[in-house]
Amino acid sequence: MKITAILQRFRERVAVKLGLLLLSVFLLIIFSVGNILYSLFLNFYLSHVTEELVQRGHSHASVLSDHFFPVTIEHVIRMEKGSRFMVVILNKEGNVIASSASISPLQRDYLKEASGKKEGQENTIEKDWDTTPFLVSHSPIMQNGKTTGEVVMFSPTEPIRQAVRLLQWMLMITGIVTVLVVSGLLFIISRMVVRPLIEMKQATSEIAQGRYSTRVPVLGNDEVAQLAHSINHMSNEIQFYQNQRNEFLADIGHELRTPITYLKGYSEVLLRNDYTPDELTQSLTIIYEQSNRLQRLVQDLFDLARMEQGNFSFCFVPLSLEDVVTDVLSLVESSMDEKKISLEYEPPAMPMSIEGDKQRLEQVLLNILENARRYTPSGGKVYVRLNGTKTSAEIQIEDTGPGISSEELPFIMERLYRVEKSRSQETGGAGLGLAISKKIVEAHHGSLHVESEVGVGTKFTIQLPLKK
Ligand SMILES: Nc1ncnc2c1ncn2[C@@H]1O[C@H](COP(=O)(O)OP(=O)(O)OP(=O)(O)O)[C@@H](O)[C@H]1O
Ligand SMILES: [Mg+2]
Repeated sequence: MKITAILQRFRERVAVKLGLLLLSVFLLIIFSVGNILYSLFLNFYLSHVTEELVQRGHSHASVLSDHFFPVTIEHVIRMEKGSRFMVVILNKEGNVIASSASISPLQRDYLKEASGKKEGQENTIEKDWDTTPFLVSHSPIMQNGKTTGEVVMFSPTEPIRQAVRLLQWMLMITGIVTVLVVSGLLFIISRMVVRPLIEMKQATSEIAQGRYSTRVPVLGNDEVAQLAHSINHMSNEIQFYQNQRNEFLADIGHELRTPITYLKGYSEVLLRNDYTPDELTQSLTIIYEQSNRLQRLVQDLFDLARMEQGNFSFCFVPLSLEDVVTDVLSLVESSMDEKKISLEYEPPAMPMSIEGDKQRLEQVLLNILENARRYTPSGGKVYVRLNGTKTSAEIQIEDTGPGISSEELPFIMERLYRVEKSRSQETGGAGLGLAISKKIVEAHHGSLHVESEVGVGTKFTIQLPLKK
């Protein structure tokens, strides 16, 4: 069971697959090349040996054709005595005149065959080097155009077989050594390719287990490196969202704690039953205000969550933007008056109609105007301007309040972000108004911008596309 499990794991590894694939290609190449080399060598060697045999026979026959005397015959025999060849000279009748070594019965059969050959026939009688002990050739001795004898040459085939065996061994050993070396190299190379993948696999499983700070080393700029880069980017993003979520939860906890503390404290006062009528009114007022605050906070969070999920339903209808603005202005007028803030409105030069959700657009304007009122001190001014181009409308809401520093400005539209971190009852918002406003404006295919200068004031600009 264990062995099959190990084999299974082995088979699942990319390095093994890649290595095996390359190795089989390599083996195929080595096998073909070896085969070609082997046949080339064998052909070349055999034709060399046979040719030498035939040539020697011919030259003896040619000498004997000129001088077919015992001295010459003796000379030829002596020449071959020391060599690896054997020569036999036959007379016209096929009887042996002389031979350089003793003749075996098998050789006698060849001699018979040689004497039966006609002039002009092939000179080699035996070419089979593998199963017979000799290669055999014959050359006729000619005098006055007639065959007067035969020179038969024998060459032992054992040296050929030895050479071939040696060649086979050499090829096999070379093959085995190359295969071993190459397989080692191939597995090293494929491991090198696969190692980054293994590292990435480990990194992603660590990320999946919540260790978001895990990073993969990025080497070079190839596809593997790009993948590593994407994984790092992904874990960065996850880490960022994880941090944001933690911060968000902490902030929400903080936001909920304040009103709940009030509610608890003042209801305790009422439960004690020894309050004065003034204390009763004060407690009830605070309980009422704090429940309102809690209700608004929960509603805002709910809206924001639904907008971020993209399933907040808007009711888009044709609207006059001027009507929306003037309706909201009439709502905030009295509270601005109360705080002695003057509200100035510049109407547009031409009518502006848009496609939008009236209630939600009013919510945006109310949020921004409420901020302007809340953060601008008494005696300040708030300007509201409505103008636009052929394709888009622009609403500017500018105040002469304290302004927002450039370090804080980029964050004020993030949810739960507030510039003044100490939460006084006076200016106590949850930091959700602008986040929601931005989402609403974006759902209208528009944009919300803010410019501000500390000590001078803040200007919000809403841009919305006009109805075509
Ligand atoms: N006109 C302004 N002048 C100065 N600071 C502003 C102005 N408008 C917004 N801010 C700063 O931006 C922060 C975020 O505003 P936002 O409307 O999102 O939250 P909030 O007013 O604090 O709370 P909420 O609107 O949820 O009641 C505010 O807390 C405030 O510090
Ligand atoms: Mg606000």
